[in-house]
Amino acid sequence: MTPFPIDCVRARFPAIAGTDRPPVFLDNAAGTQVPQSVIDAVAQGMAQGACNLGGKFAGSRRAMDIWDAAHQAGADIVGAPTPRGVIIGSSMTALTMHISRSIGRLCQPGDEIVLTRMDHEGDVAPWLLMARDHGLTVRWVSFDTDSWQIEPEALRAVMSQRTRLVAMNYASNMTGSINDMAALVRVVHEFGALAYVDAVQLTPHRLPDVVAIDCDFLVCSAYKFFGPHMAVLWGRESVLEGLEAYKCRCSSDELPERFELGTPQTELLAGLVATADYLASLGDLAGHTGTRRERMLGGYAAFGAYETALTLRLIEGILAIPGITIHGITNPNRIAQRVPTVSFTHDRIATHAFAQGLADQDICVWSGHNYALEPARQLGLDEDTGVVRLAIAHYNTGEEIERTLAALAAVAAAARA
Ligand SMILES: Cc1ncc(COP(=O)(O)O)c(C=O)c1O
Repeated sequence: MTPFPIDCVRARFPAIAGTDRPPVFLDNAAGTQVPQSVIDAVAQGMAQGACNLGGKFAGSRRAMDIWDAAHQAGADIVGAPTPRGVIIGSSMTALTMHISRSIGRLCQPGDEIVLTRMDHEGDVAPWLLMARDHGLTVRWVSFDTDSWQIEPEALRAVMSQRTRLVAMNYASNMTGSINDMAALVRVVHEFGALAYVDAVQLTPHRLPDVVAIDCDFLVCSAYKFFGPHMAVLWGRESVLEGLEAYKCRCSSDELPERFELGTPQTELLAGLVATADYLASLGDLAGHTGTRRERMLGGYAAFGAYETALTLRLIEGILAIPGITIHGITNPNRIAQRVPTVSFTHDRIATHAFAQGLADQDICVWSGHNYALEPARQLGLDEDTGVVRLAIAHYNTGEEIERTLAALAAVAAAARA
């Protein structure tokens, strides 16, 4: 296999390429750096498309073209057959809060929803509020602490004929483990419930496929996969058609417009198109051709193998440091069941102090609960201090991983001295 062209890729990211010794960005699960092509597209979107949609003049038509192209980009990213089910908004949390209001109207008091102990608050809080407002019972499913995944049988055990919705994450933003989503969705559908999938942490590493997993909703955030601060929610058209939209009386009743509130963020939509093109260009580098989705899949395959090698080395190096516990899959044979987000605690050093020690050496990581309140609770971790989280993206290098491991060892050694 051709080696992943890391130098060529890094040259595209001004935050990395523009400085002599750039910081090591290992906070990618919180947000990724952005290639120049996406930055240019956002600027151009403002320069050329800063008009409202629906006008008779050229600028307005350009803005409409950007809107169309962005919805097609969203469809390509999630694997949707058409852009009609693609709803674009400011963040995963905002989109989920918004659609939960419509989904709640399908429920009767005494109905049930299922939430997981693996999810980020963005996929928990909206549903807790929906349950409160409609008198629903919330059932919880924990992740298995051996497999680090939600087991289909554990999900089945909390389902009933009254379950209306199951909200579950595809990949955890704390442990990094990836759920077997197709298997989980099958269980949800056995009970006639809706499957709402949070793919925010999966999408930077694996391209979702809403058709293959057969979910009813899937949501992801572009700023986690090299794009602007915005998010994409896909909904099955037949389900969206049955939902009442919370919208202005005079705004469009069509799909997907009726679920998109206010004036579109045209410049960010232009950035989303460029993000899809960037991902496809990684496929081009690896010699893939075909549709944009096929080229994207080729790109993901190329950087997937590269990321896996970095992750194996990071985990191996961390495990060699005395006092550290990794909360997640560490078995190299199961590396395909996790994204490269590695969280740990140390027996003597508080997480925030550890992150500060790394920041002092120009290694950017996060510490705390990372909004993964339920996982922190299930793992018996202190909610305020949580974990130290290191999250690789495809622009990281082997040299950066070695630099990080040396920095980690130095912080840990200082505590033992
Ligand atoms: C798994 C997961 N879900 C949801 C979110 C929330 O995304 P957004 O910031 O777009 O609301 C995050 C953010 O970190 C996340 O990691």
